[in-house]
Amino acid sequence: MCGIVGYVGNKNAQDFLISGLKRLEYRGYDSAGIVTLDTDGGATLLRAKGKISNLEEKLAENKREDKIGIGHTRWATHGEPSEANAHPHRAGAIYLVHNGIIENYKELKEHLTEHEFKSETDTEVLAALVNSFYAEGKYPLTNAVVQALKLVKGTYGIAVVSTKNPEEIVVARSGSPLVIGVGHDETLIASDASALVGHTKQAIYLNDGEVARITKNSVEIKTLNAEPVSAKVEEIETNLAAIQKGGYEHFLLKEIMEQPLSLAETLRGRVNLEQGTVRLGGPGLSEAELRKIKHLIIVGCGTAYHAGLLASYYIEQFTPEITVETVIASEYRYRNAYIPEDSVALIVSQSGETADTLACLREIKKQGTKTIGIVNAIGSTIAREVDGGTYVHVGPEISVASTKAFTSQVIAMVMFGLTIAQAKGAKPGTLRPYVEEIAKLPEMIGKTLQSVDKKVQKISKKYKNYEHAIYLGRDIAYPTAMEGALKLKEISYVDANAYAFGELKHGPLALIDDRFFELALVPEGALYDKAISNVQEVLARGGHMIVVTNTDFALEVDDVIEIPGEIKLFAPILMNLVSQLFAYYMTTAKGYNVDQPRNLAKSVTVE
Ligand code: F6R
Repeated sequence: MCGIVGYVGNKNAQDFLISGLKRLEYRGYDSAGIVTLDTDGGATLLRAKGKISNLEEKLAENKREDKIGIGHTRWATHGEPSEANAHPHRAGAIYLVHNGIIENYKELKEHLTEHEFKSETDTEVLAALVNSFYAEGKYPLTNAVVQALKLVKGTYGIAVVSTKNPEEIVVARSGSPLVIGVGHDETLIASDASALVGHTKQAIYLNDGEVARITKNSVEIKTLNAEPVSAKVEEIETNLAAIQKGGYEHFLLKEIMEQPLSLAETLRGRVNLEQGTVRLGGPGLSEAELRKIKHLIIVGCGTAYHAGLLASYYIEQFTPEITVETVIASEYRYRNAYIPEDSVALIVSQSGETADTLACLREIKKQGTKTIGIVNAIGSTIAREVDGGTYVHVGPEISVASTKAFTSQVIAMVMFGLTIAQAKGAKPGTLRPYVEEIAKLPEMIGKTLQSVDKKVQKISKKYKNYEHAIYLGRDIAYPTAMEGALKLKEISYVDANAYAFGELKHGPLALIDDRFFELALVPEGALYDKAISNVQEVLARGGHMIVVTNTDFALEVDDVIEIPGEIKLFAPILMNLVSQLFAYYMTTAKGYNVDQPRNLAKSVTVE
């Protein structure tokens, strides 16, 4: 969603702001803007609807040597995407950029009668509010920001500058991330550390309720109640290669193809093949605590939810004495659900910033339940607020559609389940097959991608003009089918839905006609014959069927995509690679923007 960058130092601020905003493009946006300040009380404000390239066109005619500025990519919430609604917003000497939502902006606006509003945004209300404290010189900028924020309900990450003091930036956060990059004679800010990579490795992650005054050589942090906070400087682990396309045409293809490596990172130091065990340090639960667990709640949104659902099928297989419930965060946060004693909640999020997932985490913590994060983004809000956690370590996921994170989230959760089963004294030998397959998975993912790539590309083109798709699977293949359908719909805009095979005759079978194609995931296993009967039911009604399988498939269907047979338990992980590639190639065949699908954002920081 929206992105923030800022710079104060000795270099050209416009250059950093534009390059920083480009790094944040992946988060999704519909307009962008920057403002820089000169030393004579002047400001250069540039804003444009659409892509950052539109902003660059304006920049070409307004090049400045200014050394301080702030910038923003906006994902519209209040008011359509337009130049007038794009940030920064101005009120008097103040320019302000904002991520999040000011919930009581209408109420606040009624009192700000002195300001002539030029946009429909809640952000301009915040700018006017800060200015109402700042304008008459009653408060220095930091205090004016604090006074304003005390009146605000909602979420924000903000950066504010004033033409009256072109040496300082004031930033604050509540529910929307802000990172301060500490350089030599320069200080940078961003809502996402990827904008800072290559500029500095030293970062300070602001906490909720904190406000910071930043100059090129100093960072002073305090709480909204004026208590000083000593800044903790942390290392940014991401390197430049991780946020570049590395020779691939799109980030999505790069991220699909790097799964052998990203999963290997997830497993690093956590699998002991000799003993047939796994070890996760992060959750921080003792053997006794693990033994006590009776219920697992897995919380996530979108792909993270599907990962949780798939993991729950596995965990139930090898730890029969616990219940596992996987829930959609946006639903669960309002369900008033009773959490029994001896529960542990797994909070799953690639970005670690998803507003609904974060809200669930806070609700669950209030009930005294232990929370464990399954998170990718290091230092993210969810990672910081959980009681313990396991980073999946897949590196930055830039493409909006989540791929490599899914694979690693599933396996990280399965490993957590295995640690519970180990502690509970699982029967000797029952866990070893899982551990052995997990260890083999990175290599088998590589082999699978290689063996299916060309075929999937060819087949996806054949189906590119269909308007509807049905993804089908049973048991462990069902959550995998759900994830495949999500991938297709979000980037290729095909109306794709997933059904459990057994549900077909309870309704969806009525849909089958020539506008639909069906993609069935049919792994070898106890329910194979039942799945075959289901495939036949669809064929008998004129279906157009693609089957993805790890068996010698004898039935005549439109297309068969075979994956290597060595992996049995985790075959759905390999099948999902086919779904990922299928969605990718169909989208490129249609000529759509693969990495930034319309209407979507990478990190969903609003409800
Ligand atoms: C789909 C996708 C989304 C995310 C969801 C949760 O490809 O990317 O469905 O999975 O928005 O995001 P995180 O994992 O960042 O909480």
